[in-house]
Amino acid sequence: MSQQTWDAVDAYFSEALVGHDPALEAARAAADEAGLPPIAVAPNQGKLLHLLALTQGARRILEVGTLGGYSAIWLARALPADGELITLEIDPTHAGVARGNLARAGLDKIAEVRLGRAADSLAALVESGAEPFDLVFIDADKPSNPEYFTWALKLTRPGSLIIVDNVVRGGAVADADSTDPATVGTRRLHELIAAEPRVSGTSIQTVGTKGYDGFTLVRVQH
Ligand code: SAH
Ligand code: DHB
Ligand code: MG
Repeated sequence: MSQQTWDAVDAYFSEALVGHDPALEAARAAADEAGLPPIAVAPNQGKLLHLLALTQGARRILEVGTLGGYSAIWLARALPADGELITLEIDPTHAGVARGNLARAGLDKIAEVRLGRAADSLAALVESGAEPFDLVFIDADKPSNPEYFTWALKLTRPGSLIIVDNVVRGGAVADADSTDPATVGTRRLHELIAAEPRVSGTSIQTVGTKGYDGFTLVRVQH
């Protein structure tokens, strides 16, 4: 099967089950217009995040890596009116586009973009005694995945769900000799999950408009 087939199937699924969504389409268009890289989750992946957040009954969501706020809109839409999503972004242009997109989607009351290095923002959240998050979506610089996972553990509770995007990257993750920092980081993430008695995790390969990739799901058990 080829990328062309994966694109056609994703287009079919998104047309069938996501449909026309002005706020999400406007968010993608604004991100493209501002020259942001086209690396947001696909519509059917965004809806998966949304459904997982609903299944969690999430009231508090943390995202690491905002880009233009596309995945943040999907996640924040799963929150109750008094819920909160905090999303962390290092790039001021990306953060600005995301704030505009979240406001246009009517989510600026419950979704906050925090500008800065995610590692610093995560440390500040722990330092401030932030209430645990019910769901954490890790989708920023891949070499830092082990660090972000470690912070996520400090910011969650038993029953929380941690999701990590882009863990396959064309299959590179299976190469134990890889020196690519993103691959090394994602392999180290898997070692941390395996060695952590408080969590149970699994990783799934995917194909689609985002190519051949995958995600990791981790449930905090105790
Ligand atoms: N979650 C988004 C896509 C995020 S792309 C979506 O699916 O819609 C990854 C983002 O992480 C980029 O915007 C990039 O600027 C940001 N990023 C990279 N390194 C970072 C860091 N150290 N701290 C915070 N954000 C970072
Ligand atoms: C890249 C980042 C992502 O979060 C993604 O989903 C796809 C690609 C990247 O940095 O290339
Ligand atoms: Mg991603």
